[in-house]
Amino acid sequence: MASILVTRTLPDAVLSRLRGAAEIDVWAEPQAIPRETLLSRVRGRDALVCLLTDRIDSEVLDAAGPSLRVVANVAVGYNNIDVAACRARHVTVTNTPDVLTNACADFTWGLILAITRRLGEGERVVRAGRWGGWALDYMLGMELRGKQLGIVGLGRIGVAVAEKASAFGMRVAYSGRRPVEMPGAVHLSLEELLRTSDVVSLHCPSTPETLHLMNAARLSLMRPTAYLINTSRGPVVDEAALADALQSGRLAGAALDVYEREPEIHPALFGLENALLIPHLASATTETRTAMADLAASNALAVLAGQPAVTPV
Ligand code: DGY
Repeated sequence: MASILVTRTLPDAVLSRLRGAAEIDVWAEPQAIPRETLLSRVRGRDALVCLLTDRIDSEVLDAAGPSLRVVANVAVGYNNIDVAACRARHVTVTNTPDVLTNACADFTWGLILAITRRLGEGERVVRAGRWGGWALDYMLGMELRGKQLGIVGLGRIGVAVAEKASAFGMRVAYSGRRPVEMPGAVHLSLEELLRTSDVVSLHCPSTPETLHLMNAARLSLMRPTAYLINTSRGPVVDEAALADALQSGRLAGAALDVYEREPEIHPALFGLENALLIPHLASATTETRTAMADLAASNALAVLAGQPAVTPV
């Protein structure tokens, strides 16, 4: 029987599916599997079902040994996996696209509304007992209708976010290597998109090319009235430069779901009322997380059965 290491507990139905086909070892603690435990428990496994909190590199692959055939990530992003090192060892890498697209797009709109209408700030005031009552000019935000949404990276999630923009009366511009067939959306260079957008939403993968894509120079191209939204990956934004821009008023606000060194967050962001800080929740609905785990299980089981992976990277 094949042997699978699962690095975090998954929904019962998914674990049962895996158990029906293989011997499984599940790290069932609430926190991420410690590195040393991962290295020792991966030894001799045929499959590894892992999460974005696990760094899967040559050291892990060497510890697993030649039996390992598939690394099934329970996430669409796979920057935690050294894909080249897996390929060199003929280990298939899979991720979980599509099943989380809608949840992430809905969530992105939640962040856009929350930061432009100051919901985090308003809630803090109420809870602290500091609300003095209604006033015509109190805590004003920015209206979305008639404004431009700039999407950096028009992949699956970027497209789903763009499709919902008409509900809020926003124009859509996007940047990315290639123009995409999307009626009404304008393809701009990144610089032009940053200069002209009222809300910039990041949906690009985390790669060496996108590391600190939003650095001080690019943030300075944005309008002082504009907002930055990041649901992609933390390393895409230089958090220190962002904190500077928010503090000095060079940017109206930022809503972040992801951070460079999760769960650490740059301390300068904590004191800023115009920063909305959320703990990596974009795909966090019961339906979506179950579907992600189920797809990762299908990927692992397909490869173990000698079939092509459902969603290979
Ligand atoms: C992913 O799947 O990459 C998401 O970040 C998980 O929420």
